[in-house]
Amino acid sequence: MSTESRTRTGEESFGRNDPLSKVTRWIETGLDRILEGPDRWPNRWDEVYSREGIPTDLQHPFYGFDYITSKFQRGGSENVLDVAMGPGRHALPLAERGLKVHGFDLSRKALDLACEQLSRRNLSCSLTQADMFGTYPYAENIFDSVIAIQAIYHGYPPHMQAAIGEIYRVLRPGGVFAFTVSMDRERAMMGARKYIYDEAEGYPNTFIPKAGRERGIPHYYPDEHELEAMLRPAFNNIEMFVDMDHKYRLVTCISN
Ligand SMILES: C[S@@+](CC[C@H](N)C(=O)[O-])C[C@H]1O[C@@H](n2cnc3c(N)ncnc32)[C@H](O)[C@@H]1O
Repeated sequence: MSTESRTRTGEESFGRNDPLSKVTRWIETGLDRILEGPDRWPNRWDEVYSREGIPTDLQHPFYGFDYITSKFQRGGSENVLDVAMGPGRHALPLAERGLKVHGFDLSRKALDLACEQLSRRNLSCSLTQADMFGTYPYAENIFDSVIAIQAIYHGYPPHMQAAIGEIYRVLRPGGVFAFTVSMDRERAMMGARKYIYDEAEGYPNTFIPKAGRERGIPHYYPDEHELEAMLRPAFNNIEMFVDMDHKYRLVTCISN
């Protein structure tokens, strides 16, 4: 793919008329929501970090982290971007393994916590406050790999599509993208969680918790076909792993 085509906006690069991309329809109908900016719904995470510090479930790397880092290292990664990095449970071990880590999050408090932990261990990482559904503050093709754990599904489908478009833009051709999507809805349905969900009108597989720390924030739970449709125009070698214990899908793919 030429540099020229890689510098297009995320929306164009996925092709409005691409028959594979069912989600282009949602991009068109959802643009108003994307354009609302980072205040589109409450920043619950800032509240959580201020109240609890680092929540227990974000203190250790997620179950697939070693698999992902070995994939990054095999692909010759040097510059890694951690999207919606939170307090840094992945940025830290990535920096410890000698990678140049760049991370961003919308929550100022998350970045403060990450910064504290990095300086305590004498590690460096570039930290930026940014919106994962807006334009990323980085040039095209500069990252060898991108990690986004428990991140880009916190929105409506057009938000996730916009994030994938931006990740594609900043990732070099041949770069590795690894992310998770929650299957939390199944867990909620089974009664393991106290969350009560409203179904978001007009968007498939999108639910808004009415309780818990993410109340009011839409969650998109794409199935494997929707994921494939979103990624296929820009990525190859798409692999998906389901962890039924944690109810997450881990997805890895390579940028075209
Ligand atoms: C479940 S936490 C996961 C954090 C980190 N990726 C991890 O695995 O530990 C979700 C993170 O997404 C961040 N976040 C939510 N909406 C965001 C947005 N629009 N842009 C950037 N970060 C956002 C929150 O502040 C929070 O730190």
